[in-house]
Amino acid sequence: MAKIVGGITTSHIPSIGKAIENNLQQTEYWKPLFDAYPPIHHWLDEVQPDVAVVFYNDHGLEFFLDKKPTFAIGAAPSYKNADEGWGIPTIPEINGDPELSWHICNELVENEFDITICQEMKVDHGLTVPMQLMWPNFSYGHMKVIPVCINVEQHPMPSPKRCYDLGKAIGKAVESYDKDLKVVVLGTGGLSHQLDGERAGFINKEFDLYCMKKLIDNPEELTKLSIYDLVEQGGAQGAEFIMWLGMRGALTGELNVLKSSYHAPVSNTGAGTMLIENR
Ligand code: DHB
Ligand code: FE
Repeated sequence: MAKIVGGITTSHIPSIGKAIENNLQQTEYWKPLFDAYPPIHHWLDEVQPDVAVVFYNDHGLEFFLDKKPTFAIGAAPSYKNADEGWGIPTIPEINGDPELSWHICNELVENEFDITICQEMKVDHGLTVPMQLMWPNFSYGHMKVIPVCINVEQHPMPSPKRCYDLGKAIGKAVESYDKDLKVVVLGTGGLSHQLDGERAGFINKEFDLYCMKKLIDNPEELTKLSIYDLVEQGGAQGAEFIMWLGMRGALTGELNVLKSSYHAPVSNTGAGTMLIENR
């Protein structure tokens, strides 16, 4: 059977892609961020997962404001990136696993999650920057990816509880899949940030650290927050924390935090990175 071996959280700030492109990882500005990742590389090397289920949000590359699925799941053989307007080069295609995607989608609909199933889908920095961070030099060719895209760009947005429950249903669906696969689950985005409006530049370190702690100890407490609570306390785009809750919902075993770090600001964002073993 498929087994969820662990979860990883990371920011997906687009300028991280630019820093990688320009080889700036060891510069004064970027080093504190990039230093969080070598232990994750080591763990991935050791554990060798086959599949990554990635909870992320699309910032307008595939789903613009005119058509906005609350939950969309990729069921394509591969996923392309495209220019997002920052001049970030597009990256090598990401492999999908349509059979596992369809299994997850069938189970979700059976369990009353009315998702949008995408047989074609472009993926943006919400997914591609984490892939580059986890598997440097585009070394993700052996990985198959299941994109799980959650709307956090346009209200109404799904509640933290709904995203946690979606994660639980996905975790169950994965572990009912009849193939011996090792699956790692990623939650990307966050933590506190607000990119525009009166509070542009807003960061709330105290709230970010609270979220990171509760994510492990007591995620149910976090599911009592509303989307508006997240916006108020973490900034308009800090609501991306719902991706982390999706990831956490999928971890059903005994958890062991192997790495946890926080660094702010990076591109006006609080960047939290966690590596969680699921036994
Ligand atoms: C930025 C964009 C993001 O999607 C994000 O999550 C954080 C920062 C940015 O443009 O700086
Ligand atoms: Fe984002």
